[in-house]
Amino acid sequence: MKNILITGGAGFIGSHVVRLFVNKYPNYNIINLDALTYAGNLENLKDVDQSSNYKFEKVNILDADHLKTVFQEHQITDVIHLAAESHVDRSILSPLDFVYTNVIGTVNLLNTAKEFWKDDLSKHLFYHVSTDEVYGALGETGFFTETTAYSPNSPYSASKASSDHFVRAYAETYHLQTVISNCSNNYGPFHFPEKLIPLFINNIINKKPLPVYGDGLYTRDWLYVKDHAIAIDLVFHQGKVNDTYNIGGFNEWKNIDLVKLLCKLMDEKLGRNVGESEQLITYIKDRPGHDRRYAIDATKINTELGWKPSVTFEQGLEETIIWYLENKDWLEHVTSGAYKGYYDNMYSNR
Ligand code: NAD
Ligand code: DAU
Repeated sequence: MKNILITGGAGFIGSHVVRLFVNKYPNYNIINLDALTYAGNLENLKDVDQSSNYKFEKVNILDADHLKTVFQEHQITDVIHLAAESHVDRSILSPLDFVYTNVIGTVNLLNTAKEFWKDDLSKHLFYHVSTDEVYGALGETGFFTETTAYSPNSPYSASKASSDHFVRAYAETYHLQTVISNCSNNYGPFHFPEKLIPLFINNIINKKPLPVYGDGLYTRDWLYVKDHAIAIDLVFHQGKVNDTYNIGGFNEWKNIDLVKLLCKLMDEKLGRNVGESEQLITYIKDRPGHDRRYAIDATKINTELGWKPSVTFEQGLEETIIWYLENKDWLEHVTSGAYKGYYDNMYSNR
């Protein structure tokens, strides 16, 4: 019997992790703790929110007292920590928001767990979900492994690197049992349309410009979000304590090639003329500090835990496009209001 606190469970990846755990482990109680920022949306969990092993707590991880109450009320046994500010462009506009949530919020959570579990730390696990961006940028060749030195370039990746270091330090100093995974770019249903793939799907639907940063030759390694959730399940149950696992898609794409593929698939699905959506591509001013290439070497999780992506990129992307076309209400709900202000501000001067 476990009472697992999943933070950030109303966000993109968190909602897939919550859904997987609620459905797969009826004997676990899953407590989703989320502040419901612009990126958190309980609509993402409509299909599981009536389950008897699921509870939601609207709490900000900056509120240490509230965290303590949640640990006590639900007798939390383990944590899977995903809550974060996650968008690089926003971190360039407001770095401090990232320091607060990603660094201070994570330390608050570590402190709460350490205190609450102090009678027997060996029975509990603090799982910290992190990103490949902590390793910085690659050139044309090479891969990030678990031993690659940290070299973060954006306020977002610096804040995530800092949180990873705090998790490691709590394991060394206080003997908290921890595990960290660093994953590449996710895509799939419920992805907030400020990130490349969902933003461009939304803009293609609405025949709006597709703003490609710089020369468009930046490379990312894409992983279907449900495969990330499966990897998190494996690492949580079978990962070595106080170890790190890299998770990636073995699937590198230059942005412009990915955008052209997306345009082609969307034209087919929307019954538009061949090449119609490509005409929306607009090159704009580059993102400052833009990392040239990410690529994960996921050999360790593959050999130790037997994980590999279960779907090809073509399958995952097709499923994703279909999901967005069938869930236009969701898109409309999340793109109204505050998001509109951010979008106009972010792209108007570039
Ligand atoms: P997201 O932005 O979609 O969701 C973040 C969630 O955290 C939201 O539900 C939000 O309401 C919540 N949150 C934010 N600040 C909070 C606070 N102060 N207190 C409580 N809740 C708060 O993010 P995501 O893309 O699902 O990423 C989840 C985690 O995975 C993050 O830690 C991110 O760094 C990491 N990650 C993401 C990717 C990716 O491609 N999206 C890849 C690797 C790692
Ligand atoms: O690598 C993992 C990371 O992937 C996660 O830790 C982050 O939370 C997640 O946001 C993502 O970061 P990126 O910066 O790689 O993702 P984003 O979707 O913002 O951008 C992907 C690429 O597309 C990047 O090279 C920038 C480019 N881009 C992005 C946007 C939003 C554009 O060219 N135009 C755009 O409008």
